[in-house]
Amino acid sequence: MYQALLTTTNNGILIITINRADKLNALNNIVIEELSNIVDEIYKNSEIKSAIITGTGTKAFVAGADISEFVGLTTTEGKTLAQKGQDIFSKIENAPKPIIAAVNGFALGGGCELAMACHFRIASDNAKFGQPEVNLGLIPGYGGTQRLTQLIGKGRALELLMTGNMIDANTALQYGLVNHITTSENLLLKAIETLQLIQAKAPIAITGCIQSANAVFNEKQDGYLTELNAFAQCFSTKDMKEGTTAFLEKRKPNFIGA
Ligand code: COA
Repeated sequence: MYQALLTTTNNGILIITINRADKLNALNNIVIEELSNIVDEIYKNSEIKSAIITGTGTKAFVAGADISEFVGLTTTEGKTLAQKGQDIFSKIENAPKPIIAAVNGFALGGGCELAMACHFRIASDNAKFGQPEVNLGLIPGYGGTQRLTQLIGKGRALELLMTGNMIDANTALQYGLVNHITTSENLLLKAIETLQLIQAKAPIAITGCIQSANAVFNEKQDGYLTELNAFAQCFSTKDMKEGTTAFLEKRKPNFIGA
């Protein structure tokens, strides 16, 4: 079904593996197009409860946008390329279901941007993050200048953006760019365990968390109002009745997503 992606589903968790090992999983047009399609599927398909994005092998999550596709582009074509990348990454960020990045190896350029578009990141101990676009006479174009600054602060972000230096997994953890570090062998397991915890909660409440946290960084939205509305909406759900009743009855809730 997909040329450049491998997909499997495990208890409602869709695992998307970018599969271009010979090019360190670089994001070419096909990968971008297929990522866009599969994220649409995450929105639409009620069997998919959450997703993990990772890269094939242990060397690279994604080593960036495919540099060979940049050659000879005009300013207008460069803008169209960046717009497409920004649109799909924003679709990931605003997905109503959790999408997390399991970062194995290099997450550079568009790879770091893809990981940052996910709701949070878990890394293997050999992961390396960076925005090396300045080495190519470029800057990040898929939202990297914005999300890196949001996630690690302006001073650290500008240093990484302007030097093009990479940071290792421990530094990424210290900066708050990743939430956990584990071994390459345990990476998917850790991601799956984390999503299983989230999937046991009420899905409408989970969507409310994502929307409200995203609203902090959206100047067109009032974050407190977004939270207020999402909170209020929970009162019309069966899951909120179930959650509160289960607590009072000292039993585990059984959420149905309604
Ligand atoms: N776009 C296109 N091809 C890429 C790529 C990218 N972003 N990153 C790696 N590749 C390709 C290499 O060209 C090479 O292909 P080849 O075997 O046909 O020559 C293959 O992947 C393996 O990469 P290689 O550079 O030989 O591996 P390495 O271990 O020596 O170095 C990196 C690994 C990640 C340090 C190096 O590949 C690199 O710097 N990549 C580019 C990172 C970057 O600038 N990303 C931002 C792009 S906007």
